[in-house]
Amino acid sequence: MVAFFYHDDKDTADNFTEEHNSGVEVTEQKLKEIGVLYFNIENTDDLNSLASERNYKNRDEITLNLNSFNGDIDAFNAKMAQFYKEHYHEDEEIRYIIDGEGYFDVRDGGDKWIRAKLNKNDLLILPAGIYHRFTLSSNQRNIKAVRLFKDEPKWEAINRETNKITEARTEYVSSIKV
Ligand code: LAC
Ligand code: NI
Repeated sequence: MVAFFYHDDKDTADNFTEEHNSGVEVTEQKLKEIGVLYFNIENTDDLNSLASERNYKNRDEITLNLNSFNGDIDAFNAKMAQFYKEHYHEDEEIRYIIDGEGYFDVRDGGDKWIRAKLNKNDLLILPAGIYHRFTLSSNQRNIKAVRLFKDEPKWEAINRETNKITEARTEYVSSIKV
């Protein structure tokens, strides 16, 4: 079951995997306005239909938990820190959750974070150019997801701290202007 809410902005290096629900809910309409799409997908047929409608030709599976790092806590924490750094990509980021739980945070068009709490059967599409970050939840510390993509995956993360503005970012910013 997905939940969308404003983040309480009280995250620290020690507690960022907690829920941080401010209590202010966010509608799917608001998400659409910033180019974020949500789908509940119950089975592989529905996933395949969505993939063909949106021209996602390729996919793979990713598992993120301590076991996926063979128990190497430093490597695990380094990956967690990397995913929680604010960044964007030059392609859409599409994640279909098949197990576990995770939080995607997206900028609301301004400087506030909207948090999407995702579980099994939730599929989220982030547009190219949107600033976002991700973390596992402290409840489960585990996620298994399908990553879908159109052609060759462009996973490169452009971190906000680099101030690097590419065409994807410029296009995104003009796409959300009313
Ligand atoms: C990514 C997610 C974690 O870039 O934002 O893979
Ligand atoms: Ni990303």
